[in-house]
Order: sequence, then structure tokens, then C-alpha cells
Amino acid sequence: MKIQRTIPPAAAPIAWKDLMRGLTGMAFGRGDLGRLEDEIKDYFGIRHVFLVSSGKAALYLILQALKSLSSRRQVLIPAYTCYSVPSAVLKAGLNLSLVDIDPATLDFDYGLLEKSIDERTLCVVPTHLFGLPSDMDRVNALCKDKGAFVVEDAAQAMGGEYHGKKLGTLGDAAFFSLGRGKNITCGSGGIILTRSDRIADALRLRYSRLEAESPMRRIINLLGVLAMSIWMKPDLYALPASLPFLGLGETKFYTDFPIHRLDGTRAGLLANWKARLEQSNQARLKASGDFIDRLVPGSRVIRSSSGKETVYLRLPVLVESRKAKEELCAVSREKGLGISPMYPTAIQEIRELQGRLESTDFPGAKSVAERLVTLPVHPWVRQKDRDAISKPIEALRSSVSAGNFCDADPSVGKANA
Ligand SMILES: Cc1ncc(COP(=O)(O)O)c(C=O)c1O
Repeated sequence: MKIQRTIPPAAAPIAWKDLMRGLTGMAFGRGDLGRLEDEIKDYFGIRHVFLVSSGKAALYLILQALKSLSSRRQVLIPAYTCYSVPSAVLKAGLNLSLVDIDPATLDFDYGLLEKSIDERTLCVVPTHLFGLPSDMDRVNALCKDKGAFVVEDAAQAMGGEYHGKKLGTLGDAAFFSLGRGKNITCGSGGIILTRSDRIADALRLRYSRLEAESPMRRIINLLGVLAMSIWMKPDLYALPASLPFLGLGETKFYTDFPIHRLDGTRAGLLANWKARLEQSNQARLKASGDFIDRLVPGSRVIRSSSGKETVYLRLPVLVESRKAKEELCAVSREKGLGISPMYPTAIQEIRELQGRLESTDFPGAKSVAERLVTLPVHPWVRQKDRDAISKPIEALRSSVSAGNFCDADPSVGKANA
């Protein structure tokens, strides 16, 4: 193991005072939970909020609620997304269908989405991957036409906007993740939002039956957050990053995840959530803005111009080939730069899903899985780190013809300016 400053690919700093609030939340968490719920309603201007144990638990509950309101059973998700999304669909006993994505935007290929929605479609799950807003106007229009619900996957996009409106408030229901490495964290957690009284009633019924997590699991989560607040710091991260059994950065598919209400300890950890979200997202805007100024034009930084600036969770860059991606990631590991690949495969290649999906090809998703790297933009990334991170990307750019590296016009994207 090399002792050197090592940037984690994603991180959501948490302060000692927040950890102390987590501790007091163990005893007095009921008040914290009520307050958190009210603050979230107020911040998003939305009537119904449900706090649960993870983003996937949130999606599972939303799907269960929608299932009770319709006889339709098909759920359309992007062919490149977090593995937790198909796992929640299967756990909810629904039929999974994939729609290919456009590598220039990481959003749906809208021609294909339009063809895929029909009278079997219960809902579509547009995903604000890395904080890039999905084209909600188009998704909403297509779904309205065909009577399908829209469930925003805003797991990676808390605090971002689309045409001046907050992400998470644009579909029939939405969820955020409060997992490690998201915009803000309490270890693990999820938030459901909906404006619809009908969906909220169906959710409330299921929510009322959920148990809170056991005291032991809450303590383990709090200790995990404490460990994260220490070891994820760039000056120390070299150690956990060198321990393979921690499985940091691994992507796994599993459906046996727990579904609980959010507990008082986690609500305590989130007591200061609004200020943390603001600080975290300001830092992300600054870091990603700096990278974009340096790397565009010339590299395939994936951008959007749907209103305000994008709050990236990580900055996505498409390189020329799988080989270029692997070489870049190897340099990053060697130098501790935090440049990292994302999901290793498109959804149809997940081993556990073999035989459950139509054997369609998803070239967009496949190409993204092969060529995407992300740059860290979290609050621990300093100016000097950005200098170091930009170097191998610039070197890669000059070592291949610009045409190869920028396999599409970098100004193209979802309505890219
Ligand atoms: C796009 C996306 N959807 C859903 C999830 C699931 O959230 P959680 O990890 O909190 O269960 C994640 C988490 O990484 C995600 O990135």
C-alpha cells in the first residue's frame, strides 16, 4: 500500500456535531424524525414524504403502491443504471423492461422509449444519473399519453433542478438515496416524495406496516458513519482503498435488502441536512465547473443545459475505448486520483437476470459501460487535486486524435447549449 493522498471517487462529508446528533437521536429521535419530514416537505414544496432505510427500499415501496392502483405490471428502466433499480423491481414482483440510453446524455433514447410504453406499462423510471436531469418534459408527455406513472430516480440528484424546478418533484413519485457517497448521507437511507394523495394513501398503508430497524443495526450504522467520516478523508483513504474485503466501489446485485422506516438515529444524523446539502452541492458545482472549463471542448464530458447548472454527483466522461478507460483507471489507482469506472455492465448483462429479460441488444448502454469514467467532485477535492486529475485526461486526449476521443460533438446532449 502506498501512503499518499488518495481521493475517494464519491464522498459526503459528515461533521462531528452531526455524529453527536446521531447519538442523541438514539434517545430522542422521534422529534428529529417529525422535524426532518416537515423540513423536507417545506424544502420541496410537496405534501407527502416517507422516510425509509435506503433508496432501493423507497423504490420498492413506491412500486408496491403503484401495483395496488393498477393492473399493469411492466416497469421501464434505463438499460444502464444502478443495479439496485432492477433488484427493487423484481422484489416488488413486477416485470422488468429495459430501454436503451443515449451515450451523449445518459438519458433514455426517446425514440425507443416512445415505442416501449404501451398498455402494459405501469411506470417509467427516468433517472437523473450523476445529477444530470432526465428530460422530464418528454417523459411526462409520453407517459401521460399512455396512462403510465412516472417515478423519478433522483437517488443521485438531491438539490438539483430542471428548468427551475427541484428534481424529485416532477413525476408522480420520486426517491432520493441517503447512502454513502450521495449528495448527503446518514449511512443508508431513502426519501420518498409524492404530490399525489392517491399514491400517498397507498404508500401510507404499506409504510404503517414497516418495522423500525433493530437497536443493534442502528448502532452498527452509526459506527459505520463514524468510520466513514474518518477513513474516507483523502489523507487516510489509501488504507481502506487497499483492503479488498471492504469491497469499496463494488457493484452487486441482490434482492434481499431490508425495508424499514428511517430511525431516529439516522434522523439525528440528518439534523443539519439543509446546510450540508447546500455546502456539498456548492462544492460539486465549483469542482465540476472547473473540470468542464479545462476539459471541454475536446473531451466527452457529458453535460446538460436543462435550466440551472447541473449539480454533478460525479462528473461523467466518455473515453475512446475500454482499453483507454482501464489505463486511465490504472493511473488513477497508482496516483490516488479518484477517477473511477461506474457500473461494470449494462443491466441485461447482470448474471442474476439471465433468462428474465428479452434478448434485445442495448448498444448505447453497452458502450457507456465500456467507456465511462467519472471524476470526483465532492467537497474534499481541492484545486491541486483537480490539477492532478485533469493531467492524465488531457494526456489521453492528446494521445488519440480528437475525433476519436470526442466520438460525438461535445456540445450535443440533451439540449446541450
Ligand atoms: C441511480 C440509483 N438508483 C437507486 C439507488 C439505490 O439507492 P440505495 O443505495 O440508497 O439503496 C442508487 C444508489 O446508489 C442509485 O445510484
